[in-house]
Amino acid sequence: MKVTVYNCREFDEKELFLRYEKEMGMELVLCTQPPTMENACLTKGSTCVDILTSKITRELMAAFHENGVKYLTTRTIGYDHIDLEAAKEFGIKVGNAPYGPDGVSDYTVMLILMSIRKMKRILQRTDIQDYTLAGIQGRELKDLTVGVIGTGRIGKTVIRSLSGFGCKILAYDLYKQDEVEKYAAYVPLEQLFKEADVITLHTPLTDQNYHLINEKSIAMMKDGVVIVNTARGALIDSQALIAAVESGKIGAAGLDVVENEFGLYYYDCKSDILKNRELAILRGFPNVTVSHHMAFYTDNCVETVVRDSLMSCKLFMEGKENPWEVLA
Ligand code: NAI
Repeated sequence: MKVTVYNCREFDEKELFLRYEKEMGMELVLCTQPPTMENACLTKGSTCVDILTSKITRELMAAFHENGVKYLTTRTIGYDHIDLEAAKEFGIKVGNAPYGPDGVSDYTVMLILMSIRKMKRILQRTDIQDYTLAGIQGRELKDLTVGVIGTGRIGKTVIRSLSGFGCKILAYDLYKQDEVEKYAAYVPLEQLFKEADVITLHTPLTDQNYHLINEKSIAMMKDGVVIVNTARGALIDSQALIAAVESGKIGAAGLDVVENEFGLYYYDCKSDILKNRELAILRGFPNVTVSHHMAFYTDNCVETVVRDSLMSCKLFMEGKENPWEVLA
């Protein structure tokens, strides 16, 4: 039972991989680098490949197939970085590793609070001993309407947490859930855009919702609206977001994800010329808090994804029912 693991982080994942390798009776090939055409040879003799958020193109998928790979698991919830068509074409099954929604939910609530309390500006000021008050007056959550787009595992948890703050909560999803209706009112998307003071995104990225937040939808929103995105960068058109922050239409944003973050996030790029202009601009705004796709990153989550990604490989190799498989 051989599994090639890419992007294995030395500082937190390696120890867990070695522990579960023993416990599950597997043989692991641990590689700290993302998969590339150069190191795809590491999958020779492995039935499974375990990856993080790096792009799996058709070319890579073909190389994995050539080497005998039959199952690809990603230590993430989202799997839009994997070419699913290619996986189907080469007969490679795909699995994900969902972890509890609480870490991302807590982080989302934190970004909402940071945004409405102008925390980035406050921290910047205290750092330089500027203890003045002008320009950093915040708003209280109980006075606001929060619109939650996507009421799956994370969105639902965010809604439950927000309900404790006494704010009005509007929700939008393709499918309604009874549990959500205890705390929030489902409304049409346009109504949510028009009435929410804070909009937070919790859907996967699909062809249908690519650039959901764009010039047109932003125009419908309240002046000074706060946008929080802990889901996927391309749900927001970065150019439209920048224009709206510049015009003041968007009052603040909290972005744990941005468009074209692949190849940047999780790498040390401090000596490089940043290859993402939009990110540089967004990061520079005093009312936009940017973090590098961190919302998931808790002790609980890291252990869960390492364990479950390997468990899904084990179940696959043993031909057993595999709850983590996402593509039949
Ligand atoms: P989920 O699958 O439980 O929920 C997604 C919800 O979005 C579902 O209820 C679905 O019906 C809804 N949805 C799908 N397309 C939609 C559309 N076009 N319009 C409205 N609703 C739509 O997923 P979960 O676990 O809640 O995760 C949400 C997203 O959060 C993930 O897909 C991933 O992109 C992101 N994520 C980000 C993390 C981070 O560290 N920043 C960590 C984990 C997930």
